[in-house]
Amino acid sequence: MNFENILIELKDNLAVIIINRPAKLNALNKKTIEELHNAFKVLDSSASVKAIIITGSGEKAFVAGADISEFADFNVKEGSELARKGQELLFDFVQNLSTPVIAAVNGFALGGGLELAMSAHFRVASSNAKMGLPEVSLGVIPGYGGTQRLPQLVGKGKAMEMIMTAGMISAEEAKDWGLVNYVVELEELMPLCEKLASKIMRNSSVAIAAAIKAVNANYSTNINGFDVEIAKFGESFGTNDFKEGTTAFLEKRKPNFE
Ligand code: COA
Repeated sequence: MNFENILIELKDNLAVIIINRPAKLNALNKKTIEELHNAFKVLDSSASVKAIIITGSGEKAFVAGADISEFADFNVKEGSELARKGQELLFDFVQNLSTPVIAAVNGFALGGGLELAMSAHFRVASSNAKMGLPEVSLGVIPGYGGTQRLPQLVGKGKAMEMIMTAGMISAEEAKDWGLVNYVVELEELMPLCEKLASKIMRNSSVAIAAAIKAVNANYSTNINGFDVEIAKFGESFGTNDFKEGTTAFLEKRKPNFE
């Protein structure tokens, strides 16, 4: 896979995607969004990739937002198309991926950057990270799912405050608010994400994919999450991983998932 704006590192069953436009603080332009879509798609369909970490290059930014220079002269139709296509190609796509995605937030995560981090299945931040949805300061609103995912993670009141003030919160505040799971020094960020990924990768990928679908169903208005859970729970009983996991437990050995 050859990309202009992203790098991919493969370490055993783990893939690390690095958004690589440091001169523009890794801002998401159209090309980067398309490349990320293609990278996530290929990695998700690879049987050997069991977890993905997404991060930004450099020590300053995860992603400082959508690339403002690309949409500054857009009209209403182009604006709605920008949001629709971005959500479809990247933000909803990542949220609904079968492979677990951890966002390693290594600096500014603003606008589309925070929206990308929120699309990941969970987040870990470095202590220098700053997070916010500054869109209303530009006369626009978050368009890559921020108005929906931020209240899900931090509650309506805090989300309203962040969106309306357009301010940034620190990594520690983000942890207190439930936006990130851990805060560590920058040099500890990737080691911790890798450690969490390796814990995840010991488990059944098939069961994890089913769990992602069931948890996500809680945030969908047109499906009943409990029904999805019942269906996915039942389907688990037909998988080789279930047979292996339960047999291994009864035989007092570690499971060897496919
Ligand atoms: N879109 C396009 N370019 C961006 C960008 C974005 N979202 N964020 C940063 N950049 C570019 C800057 O234009 C600058 O490019 P230049 O050197 O060619 O002029 C470069 O990245 C470095 O950014 P700079 O603003 O000089 O860094 P800073 O340390 O002074 O400030 C931020 C850092 C994050 C506070 C500031 O870049 C910023 O506010 N960015 C926009 C954040 C935003 O509103 N995002 C939501 C977009 S919807």
